[in-house]
Amino acid sequence: MLKEVYYPKKEMFKNPAFKNMCEYKDLVEEFEKDYEGTWSKLAKEKITWFEDFKQTLDTSNAPFYKWFVGGKLNVTYNCIDRHLEDKKNKAAIIWEGDNGEKRIITYLELYRDVNRFANLLKSLGVKKGDRVVIYMPMIPEAAYAMLACARIGAIHSVVFGGFSAEALKDRILDAEAKIVITADGAFRKGKPYMLKPVVDKALEGVDIVEKVIVVERNNEDINWVEGRDLSYNDLIINQDDKCKCEIMDSEDPLFLLYTSGSTGKPKGVQHSQAGYILWAQLTMEWVFDIKDNDTFWCTADIGWITGHTYIVYGPLAAGGTTLMFEGVLTYPDSGRAWKMVEEYKVNQFYTAPTAIRLLHKMGPDEPKKYDLSSLRILGTVGEPIDPTAWKWYYEVVGGGRCSIVDTWWQTETGGHMISPLPAATPIKPGSATFPLPGIFAEIIDEEGNKMPPNEKGLLCITKPWPSMIRTIWGDPERFIKSYFSTAKKDGKPVYFSGDGAIYDEDGYIWITGRVDDVINVSGHRLGTAEIEAAIKKHPLVAEVAVVGRPDEIKGESIFAYVVLKEEDTIAEEIEIIQEINAIVKEEIGAIAKVDTIAFVPGLPKTRSGKIMRRILRAIAKGEEIKQDTSTLEDPKVVEAIIAVVNKI
Ligand code: WTA
Repeated sequence: MLKEVYYPKKEMFKNPAFKNMCEYKDLVEEFEKDYEGTWSKLAKEKITWFEDFKQTLDTSNAPFYKWFVGGKLNVTYNCIDRHLEDKKNKAAIIWEGDNGEKRIITYLELYRDVNRFANLLKSLGVKKGDRVVIYMPMIPEAAYAMLACARIGAIHSVVFGGFSAEALKDRILDAEAKIVITADGAFRKGKPYMLKPVVDKALEGVDIVEKVIVVERNNEDINWVEGRDLSYNDLIINQDDKCKCEIMDSEDPLFLLYTSGSTGKPKGVQHSQAGYILWAQLTMEWVFDIKDNDTFWCTADIGWITGHTYIVYGPLAAGGTTLMFEGVLTYPDSGRAWKMVEEYKVNQFYTAPTAIRLLHKMGPDEPKKYDLSSLRILGTVGEPIDPTAWKWYYEVVGGGRCSIVDTWWQTETGGHMISPLPAATPIKPGSATFPLPGIFAEIIDEEGNKMPPNEKGLLCITKPWPSMIRTIWGDPERFIKSYFSTAKKDGKPVYFSGDGAIYDEDGYIWITGRVDDVINVSGHRLGTAEIEAAIKKHPLVAEVAVVGRPDEIKGESIFAYVVLKEEDTIAEEIEIIQEINAIVKEEIGAIAKVDTIAFVPGLPKTRSGKIMRRILRAIAKGEEIKQDTSTLEDPKVVEAIIAVVNKI
């Protein structure tokens, strides 16, 4: 932990939402005094409603909370239509392709493009409540697709383009999607790559998907299935550019986004209309201080929640300009990010610590070659940021002028939960600082007692909030089990995030990372259970346990302990490693590549057969084993495992 405190440079901010900590505390107090009243006031002020809501919060069926009950709205009306009056020619999306190609889409153009896409979906029979899977590269049409669904009340489920056919198939089946929207492929590091063949494979044996809409982006040859596959490029030109928006209820689902949990298959996190869009917009104003003339750049992929909230919904609801890019930040060289900041005069730059570490390593002096004076706020998300990366980000990228907002949140929370306010909060590098006003994030024990400083506890959110997950699609019991069965406060179950955290003496929150079996590789959330299930498909694997191991760039890397069925196969280890990784790639995708495989004679288990993962985590980290191993079924196995790991 760095001890220094960094104060915001006030001159960088004109009229921020919070000028100082007193203003922050005032709003926190207002929420404490009148929780529902304060949310109600904000919802009335920020959302353009077709019909006012009747009740702010309905807790009658907790933890299935309902917000702004009875309210009617459309999210795309809030993201597009209401801005047409005074911003029709303002850039809504600025897009840069992998090859440097550029597109600027104004609000009026976005309105027309989204309407055409919405009409196309309607012409295919898509109705309110139908699920549409979006498997797309980072092109503007991906955003149009999301918004087109929202316009007609269809529920989108975006699947990250790096997931494999198997992973895509699981998500299509779980959501029971009727339509898949994809592209032939796109470009990455100057070369075309393909998506459509993955969709073809995912749909083998699947009969619920009626149509596949293909956006032609890289124009490589693809297979067209008669009667199923449709060219977006051909059909879109004939669509009417006006489409009345569907009147949605506050609580109708807006989208599903699958994410990993500690057990089983990924779960479909379901978000609502009103609560979600309110918080997406508010956090853009509070945390990113978005102003009319700003260019806001979030480098995430739309396949993750960060891309949903801070590339598409948040910036547009706030009437901002969102910069979207295809490719990677390190191609053509490690100056691409900084070149883009200079060229588009980016004001807020939002990325993950893994990207900061990589950019730092590849080009420590690269930012100095560009004019980065437009930057005002630098954001980070996805994992704790280490002091070295933080200092470089602050000093070299931000020139010591910019506020760093270390935002803690999750797929399930919809938007930021704990974060500095850029013009107000004194920052301690590596701390996400304090909960945002209205968010009751607390570090507690299982009974709800607040942890004293410097003692690790469970990071919980003890009151419902508007942008929270509503349920797990099709599995309400799992929703309760995953989030509301670990901790209680005042006898009532509260939301548990899966993260551990610590307060320091000044009440700052320090996230220590997941306390469950979820790992965080390059800011991507993966469940050890899913990876284990994939590895078990190898015919020679008898048992497997996967843990995360600290990694200099990726945050964590994947470490697998594998017990083979026949010991004499050890000679073919290298082949087995390759085969295992091929299976993982097929089942999940390249993002789940196993970095280290240790072939061990057995796993440490309790007498009741439970694998002692804590021991395996410690061995992978090279730490001393503190646990008592004498109660294990076979205490000697620990030494044998250490001997194997030491040889790797
Ligand atoms: C981790 C990403 C430390 C955390 C928005 C959480 C963080 C998981 C931070 C959610 C942060 C996110 N500091 N850790 N600022 N932000 N995390 O659902 O472990 O992909 O539970 O959402 O990322 O990952 P998810």
